[in-house]
Amino acid sequence: MPERIEIPEAFPDAGDVRGRRVVVTGAGRGLGELIAHAFSAAGAQVALVSRTERDLKVVADSLPGPTLVFCGDVRDADFNEAVADATVAEWGGLDVWICNAGISPVVTGPLDIEPETWRDVIDVNLTGAFLGARAAARVMAHGGRLIFTGSVLGERPRKGLTAYSASKAGLIGLAKGLALDLAPAGITVNVVAPGWFESPLADGFANNERLAESILAHTALRRWGRSSDLTGAFQFLASDAAAFITGTVLTVDGGYALV
Ligand SMILES: NC(=O)c1ccc[n+]([C@@H]2O[C@H](COP(=O)([O-])OP(=O)(O)OC[C@H]3O[C@@H](n4cnc5c(N)ncnc54)[C@H](OP(=O)(O)O)[C@@H]3O)[C@@H](O)[C@H]2O)c1
Repeated sequence: MPERIEIPEAFPDAGDVRGRRVVVTGAGRGLGELIAHAFSAAGAQVALVSRTERDLKVVADSLPGPTLVFCGDVRDADFNEAVADATVAEWGGLDVWICNAGISPVVTGPLDIEPETWRDVIDVNLTGAFLGARAAARVMAHGGRLIFTGSVLGERPRKGLTAYSASKAGLIGLAKGLALDLAPAGITVNVVAPGWFESPLADGFANNERLAESILAHTALRRWGRSSDLTGAFQFLASDAAAFITGTVLTVDGGYALV
């Protein structure tokens, strides 16, 4: 070991994603659209995935950089493989895959939740992420990045959202397991866990006065997340500065988990 810490000639720029070839699932609206904008504005090439082609085209048309559009369902293993293959065919490689597509059905107690609803949540939020990660890892070179959009509810569940919390807790296990499995291939796997952000998915909560108040009361910084609060976490994990970070959860929740 050296006597003094080694000072590198240059430090990696946290958040520099210029030239990265990035797939973002659930990019037709909400946080995925936001993430796509942030990466594109930062010089990345962004492939957009969701089930609604109209939404994807609107997003693609508004991004400053190169885009690809893939319309399909993340629950479909073949679709995920096709996205990975087509991205490599078009762009010569794939550097980052952000498993962001997710659903959160209306608040309901455990006795009311239909098995079908439970399966839907697990299928999209957890199995969809696994299938995407698997497809991506198959074609990624050393240095590839898998990033899952988790949720603070994965570690701090909220009454009435058990299926959703279970799916997001499962994502943490999936990320940690894959981080071990894919370390020999030089692929890192991490979770960004947002708290409460203004988005279509969170509308049902924001419009319910009692719930909205309770969310604010539980958030140390006493406000909802803004668009500009979130994307840096994804860019950081996709950048060279995060090369030694794998199997972690980066929580962006204004202190929701603390209160
Ligand atoms: N908003 C928040 O406050 C918040 C907080 C914590 C975590 N999150 C997480 O952030 C992610 C995005 O949430 P959001 O708030 O942006 O939700 P959103 O506004 O409802 O957007 C979800 C996106 O995912 C796509 N999608 C849903 N099911 C899909 C499927 N089976 N296959 C492919 N695409 C699918 C949707 O498009 P189509 O329906 O057209 O396919 C849409 O583009 C989710 O994983 C969510 O759990 C959100």
